[in-house]
Amino acid sequence: MTVLPMVGSVPPPVNRRFLARPGNGPDGVGEHALHGRGRTGSHPVSGVQARSSSRCLLPSSAGRHPWCPRIRKVYDMATILITGASDGLGRALAEDLAADGRHTLLLHGRDHDRLREVAVATGGETYRADLASLAGVRRLAADVAARHDRLDVLVNNAGVGFHAEGTRRQTSADGHELRLAVNYLAPVVLTRELLPLLRRSAPSRIVNVASVGQQPFDFDDPGHTREYTDVAAYCRSKLALVCHGFDLAGELSDSGITVNSLHPASFMPTTMSRRSGMDVVDTLEQGVAATRRLVDAPELAGVTGRYFDGEKEGRAAAEAYDPEYRRSLAEVTASLL
Ligand SMILES: NC(=O)c1ccc[n+]([C@@H]2O[C@H](COP(=O)([O-])OP(=O)(O)OC[C@H]3O[C@@H](n4cnc5c(N)ncnc54)[C@H](OP(=O)(O)O)[C@@H]3O)[C@@H](O)[C@H]2O)c1
Repeated sequence: MTVLPMVGSVPPPVNRRFLARPGNGPDGVGEHALHGRGRTGSHPVSGVQARSSSRCLLPSSAGRHPWCPRIRKVYDMATILITGASDGLGRALAEDLAADGRHTLLLHGRDHDRLREVAVATGGETYRADLASLAGVRRLAADVAARHDRLDVLVNNAGVGFHAEGTRRQTSADGHELRLAVNYLAPVVLTRELLPLLRRSAPSRIVNVASVGQQPFDFDDPGHTREYTDVAAYCRSKLALVCHGFDLAGELSDSGITVNSLHPASFMPTTMSRRSGMDVVDTLEQGVAATRRLVDAPELAGVTGRYFDGEKEGRAAAEAYDPEYRRSLAEVTASLL
């Protein structure tokens, strides 16, 4: 990985929940992204029709739903891939799912020892890959596909954050700005490569762990060489991930694969938060509960193309609802891959 000299130096942006650091200036994230109400527009909804009339094994309150025979599968013995399972939210989610004792957990990480520790704690299978390399991402997908003929849930959780003292602009193995590469390009590619497995396993779910920290992409500077801060880079990557999730949900509307994104919780006690220098705001349990809900909550069967703030539906930055913006982002993305 190449480390380039910092280009420009501007104070990090701030938003009240995401960056409550005193003394910072205004950020590029609109209020709507922080405190907005749930979106009411129509979303492509898929996978709600029952395929069989087999008896529902869910609690009786859920048994009346016509889609029960299909969601039952996700509950009973799901194959679930979690990226970034070696630490923080990913690890805690893996442990939470492992407590069910019936899922096949595919744990991704890049550090052998930490990944092994989580595997021992959860009984999951391990997959090592550096997501700062698109070849590594493709290899990860190929490894998963070689060992499994189904995938019920893909949780794109791995991410690189920002540092209290700021970091210089860094690049991935492919020469892309690092946060864009790991937080956005990697999940885009991983998801694409795993679509055949997810299709075969439908109804299946894609869960994108994004953030309330969102900033628009600069289409005149896709490499983020101007006015770089690691916070801005992180926020750009997270809005891009939400936008991609909205587009993909539309593309997959008839497939039985749902795609949802979320801000899990704010400044949970994880390595990423510690490095940011911010005070802890929410618990790890809150983040796990919000993410787990998207993984297997029965009430979200067939729900797709949404952005959640914790356990409630939220509103992402305005650009995410602008088809023109998303089209431009998709074009730039295609040119980077
Ligand atoms: N912490 C928060 O309060 C918060 C708030 C909003 C959103 N989020 C999001 O939640 C997700 C998890 O964050 P966290 O707080 O749990 O962070 P974390 O504790 O730092 O864990 C991040 C995970 O991503 C992996 N990772 C990072 N760069 C990677 C790379 N190049 N290749 C492969 N794996 C890589 C890490 O692997 P290593 O163990 O090898 O480093 C680790 O497993 C992130 O997407 C983050 O943006 C977190």
